[in-house]
Amino acid sequence: MNITIFGTGYVGLVQAAVFAEAGYNVTCVDIDAEKVSRLKKGEIPIYEPGLEHLVKENGTTERLHFTTDASVGIARSSIQFIAVGTPPDEDGSADLKHVLAVAKEIASHMEEHRIVVVKSTVPVGTSDQVRAMMLRTLKERGRDDLTFDVSSNPEFLKEGSAVADCTKPDRIIIGTECAETERALRELYAPFNRNHDKIISMDVRSAELTKYAANCMLATKISFMNEMANLAEKLDADIEKVRLGIGADPRIGYHFIYPGVGYGGSCFPKDVRAMIRLAQTSGYDPMVLNAVEQRNEQQKHVLFAKISGHFEGDIEGKTFALWGLSFKPNTNDMREAPSRVLMAALWQAGAKVRAYDPEAMDECRRIYGDREDLLLCASKEEALEEADALVVVTEWKSFRAPDFEAMKRVLRNPIIFDGRNIYDPVVASRKGLLVFSIGRTGQLLPSLE
Ligand code: UDX
Repeated sequence: MNITIFGTGYVGLVQAAVFAEAGYNVTCVDIDAEKVSRLKKGEIPIYEPGLEHLVKENGTTERLHFTTDASVGIARSSIQFIAVGTPPDEDGSADLKHVLAVAKEIASHMEEHRIVVVKSTVPVGTSDQVRAMMLRTLKERGRDDLTFDVSSNPEFLKEGSAVADCTKPDRIIIGTECAETERALRELYAPFNRNHDKIISMDVRSAELTKYAANCMLATKISFMNEMANLAEKLDADIEKVRLGIGADPRIGYHFIYPGVGYGGSCFPKDVRAMIRLAQTSGYDPMVLNAVEQRNEQQKHVLFAKISGHFEGDIEGKTFALWGLSFKPNTNDMREAPSRVLMAALWQAGAKVRAYDPEAMDECRRIYGDREDLLLCASKEEALEEADALVVVTEWKSFRAPDFEAMKRVLRNPIIFDGRNIYDPVVASRKGLLVFSIGRTGQLLPSLE
């Protein structure tokens, strides 16, 4: 089977590599010539575990092609995936220009029936716009005899485990009103639909909404927990105990209820805002989503507030060690990362940052360039040198069991601001370190011993 995928970002590239690994011939089309030539050499522009191996291996067996020539991809496959980016517009709604440009391209070159599958995260109604664009283009070509179908097939990949999520999906959403398209997509996904039927088929609009509803629900869980954490501090309770207590209820569950410094990344912030815009343009006031978004924006300032509170506003001239720059572990992605909000606040207050991240150092250099108030350190230990305190922003595994005694010797003040609650304040305090965490005041802690 031949498949064409437009867009070699996270979603397109991962899906392409996984389809190729399953034995399909996959053609990836991207307008970025430099990216395409790097991909041809097996060079991956993103850090994603397992991806480089898959791209290299399938590239050499010729199951995975990269090209800038859309007409090649359109001629080669009956199934055309659209997986290009949908960056936010100024008002937060998803910008569909790349998606619609691909739709136009497909209609400009197709010579026989094509199934167009929208994989990009797009607002409800986008498939209709894709259809309209294709009809218009075919008409202009004088080829409205050609047939096509537009379906929705959202992805649910998590950065850092995208290859595994794609290889073993927990669900495969197929949104189409056309029986022939459903049959073709069921056949395509058969290698990934083992053990039990993971395919949930529905109409196009419901499929489009499913993607947003899933991300908004997850973002809501996080903002809710962050709100409870902030309240726990006011009420002298320990959110980590509360988390265990509520997670035991299977209706709530233990997943995705970790309080922290707010969600970031390329999906949640963008999708929540896009959903808010979509609701507003439909004449509906999304009260819950507005609150989710506001709580998250506020939560990204919580660490700075704690730092400033402890040092009584005397931040100027101080240096802070910062562990973790990426928006979450196992990725180099710093889009909407809480670390960026914290660094901006520290710099604004006249402080310096000594930062370390296992994967995001290059990305940080790319974003900020050379600055006097930012030192990118070669190791987590180096970041601690001459720092007034340590701030943990991302819960990388390698940060979880530090040498507290060495840390105490190196830091100017034995203080950790733990934005992800990875340290037990009691254990750390036995080693002489004071830990400020999220949702725990520390006042209840002595009774734990
Ligand atoms: C997310 C969805 O999980 C995925 O299904 C969708 O396709 C794309 O968006 P991703 O952006 O890779 O994936 O990140 P995810 O692992 O879901 O984490 C998102 C953010 O939430 C991170 O900033 C993380 O630190 C934060 N988070 C997550 C919490 O603060 N608490 C939690 O309990 C879980």
